[in-house]
Amino acid sequence: MKRSNTPSKLSPQRGARIALLLSGCCAVCTLTVTGLLPRPLFDALFLCGLLVLSARRIRVVLPHMTPRQREWLYVWVYVPLFCFFLPGSALWRDTEAGLGERIRTPAYVAVAFLFIAAHIFYFLYKNKPKMRKKIVAGNWKMNTLPAEGAELAKGIVAQRATAPAEVNFIVCPPFTHLSQVAEALKGSNIALGAQNCAAEEKGAYTGEVSAAMIAALGCRYVILGHSERRQYYGETSETLNLKMARAYAHGLTPVYCVGENLEEREAGKHFDVVKAQIEEVVCNLTPEQFADLVIAYEPVWAIGTGKTATADQAQEIHAFIRKVLADKFGAAAAETPILYGGSCKPSNAAELFAKEDVDGGLIGGAALKAEDFLGIGQGFAK
Ligand code: 13P
Repeated sequence: MKRSNTPSKLSPQRGARIALLLSGCCAVCTLTVTGLLPRPLFDALFLCGLLVLSARRIRVVLPHMTPRQREWLYVWVYVPLFCFFLPGSALWRDTEAGLGERIRTPAYVAVAFLFIAAHIFYFLYKNKPKMRKKIVAGNWKMNTLPAEGAELAKGIVAQRATAPAEVNFIVCPPFTHLSQVAEALKGSNIALGAQNCAAEEKGAYTGEVSAAMIAALGCRYVILGHSERRQYYGETSETLNLKMARAYAHGLTPVYCVGENLEEREAGKHFDVVKAQIEEVVCNLTPEQFADLVIAYEPVWAIGTGKTATADQAQEIHAFIRKVLADKFGAAAAETPILYGGSCKPSNAAELFAKEDVDGGLIGGAALKAEDFLGIGQGFAK
């Protein structure tokens, strides 16, 4: 007989859980029918079971929903409470039946409603890709003195509320500013990142700063493979592989930069260049590491030039990057944030961020003014 090669979705643990649940249900029903378990206790157990199942369904789909869709879900969770428990309380007063009798009908209707709503949302959203993180990261490059950097960070914290809450802001100051900026960001939801880290763990590497050091100063992110480092400091895929490994070893999330220069773009080689930059580094990651990665596409010809890629150009290459990632990592690629960088400012952010595969920006010049930096985040609201 031919056996199917498709692995069974029912793992032994899941099978055991289902068997346990079914035996529990049978036991409770038998005890109730024989009168050993009082009816109100049966009702309470049954309704709690339905509530737990509904909550589990809701928990699974929440990450797949936009904030607006979540608001609707919450409305449908509250509707049964208001619509059924209010008339229920009238029943409570009027009837002379026992407490269990009076509360039973509204409780069953409310929980059934919630159970059905949870399952409708579950089947509608379970197969949709999870919502990707929206990120606006500021790469301060070699700008500001430490005290100025701390002031800038304080300004960003003070005005944070002007940008949508769901946007994740990251600031990446020079190494020398990290402690002071970390102090200024304390208590806020703005994350700290560094602009680079050493390829080595520690030792006689004069002038280098290790991943362990920046992590100890409170960094959660590190920019790696920026075109300025590839161009001026000879950074290659080989060194970047080592740096990525160091970053992950110290719990840092790499913001890995890719992008072509003008010559490559004009020769129509941009897809090949970006593909190679990804395949030579990102494709060496484990699935666990890949799940904790941010990509930044920064066309070199757009960096600091005032020349921005059009939203369509950005979308075209971001979608291509996601496909290259999906070829290696499958469905997980749908969750990788891919940022655009290169003369991004408040006036063009909304158009860029409206594109399906543009999940935010890596900002240079405009990250040096709190209003502009946060103004770019407002691009998500438009
Ligand atoms: P600009 O925003 O100044 O063009 O710089 C982009 C950049 O290189 C961010 O890393």
